Amino acid sequence: MDLYKSKNYQALKINYTNDLYGYALEKGGCIFLTGSCPTPTLKVVYEKLLNSFVTDNKFCSYNTGLTGIKKEIRRYLNQHSQLDVDVDKHILITLGATTFLQQLYLYLLDENSDCLMITPTFQDYYNQVRFTRASISEVAMEERAPNWPLDIEKVRKSIRNNTRLIMLCNPNNPTGKVYSREELTELGRIAKQNNILLVADEAYNYLIYEGQFTSVLDIPEIRSNVVAVRTFSKEFSMCGWRVGYAYLPEEIQKELFHLQLSFNTVAPSISQKAAEISLQSEEIKAEAKKEVLRTKEKRNFITNCIDEIGHGLSYIMPKACPYLFVKYTKDIRSYDLCKDMISKANVIVSPGIGNGESGEHHFCVTFADCMEVITEGMGRLKYYFSNHY
Ligand SMILES: Cc1ncc(COP(=O)(O)O)c(C=O)c1O
Repeated sequence: MDLYKSKNYQALKINYTNDLYGYALEKGGCIFLTGSCPTPTLKVVYEKLLNSFVTDNKFCSYNTGLTGIKKEIRRYLNQHSQLDVDVDKHILITLGATTFLQQLYLYLLDENSDCLMITPTFQDYYNQVRFTRASISEVAMEERAPNWPLDIEKVRKSIRNNTRLIMLCNPNNPTGKVYSREELTELGRIAKQNNILLVADEAYNYLIYEGQFTSVLDIPEIRSNVVAVRTFSKEFSMCGWRVGYAYLPEEIQKELFHLQLSFNTVAPSISQKAAEISLQSEEIKAEAKKEVLRTKEKRNFITNCIDEIGHGLSYIMPKACPYLFVKYTKDIRSYDLCKDMISKANVIVSPGIGNGESGEHHFCVTFADCMEVITEGMGRLKYYFSNHY
């Protein structure tokens, strides 16, 4: 069968979490403290969507995106980033964040280029980059409180002749780090000096527990070299609707727009309309804000549980995102540890190795699910550490 596999496909490596996910599903009876979007879309989104059919029944778009959503995004960026954006020149409406990044990598990378990742980071980037056959370099953040500082000099020294982009997850999945304005400014300067792009995945820009979020778009002096992607999957629990948007420098937006035309990867019109409604509606935004408070309570619950477990487990308090990145001291690979948890305690968490080399000897607990599931899952983790670790 290898006959059929392209070199691009052969460059992929195991997706550790998905692999264990399959194992847990097969075993059955597991609690999943992985994944990130279990909350259903608010009923009011559907209601408003249905009502909108009455007044506007011709919202069909091709790849340019619907006027309504573009207007709302423009308003949002004006309000949050003091950015008066020409949406037709800088914005793409995308099929979620994932598809956009995949296309951006295909545009920027090939077997002669390198992608610089700041790690630990979201594991899906890895196979997407590998598929282009580019190499991956990693710069690890420093694992210390508060907020995982980044050694900018290390980043500077890791830029090679063939580096095409610096990939950033801000706020960071899985550590909950929120990059400071200074760090982003420095990274943007490095990108400018080397004529490369600073790409920021800002999927969790709204889920901040402490401090303030700064977007790469908030810093005018680096905008010429930044790409920012956002999604409606998280803030509005619209994971299955597959809609997001990206800001890009004008030239690149134009070229990626042409890629979108060939690949037909604009979000479905109905999803765009639902996203427009979500950005517009004070009621929906207020609900999303309440969810942030609820998630913060879950974070506090989870960290208390880890404190109680002891056994040398440690973490840096996440300032954002529904993830806790836990370090352990035992000499066992994170993949093996997580598999053992499934097998002996019927609970699945993500092995840190999926988040980059610096993620080894960690596991990631997701606390996006409801309290009942989280409480049961943490109970099983406690059981595992008391009886099998
Ligand atoms: C950091 C980050 N970016 C992107 C995504 C996926 O976003 P989308 O559903 O828009 O593809 C996820 C999902 O977990 C994520 O954690």
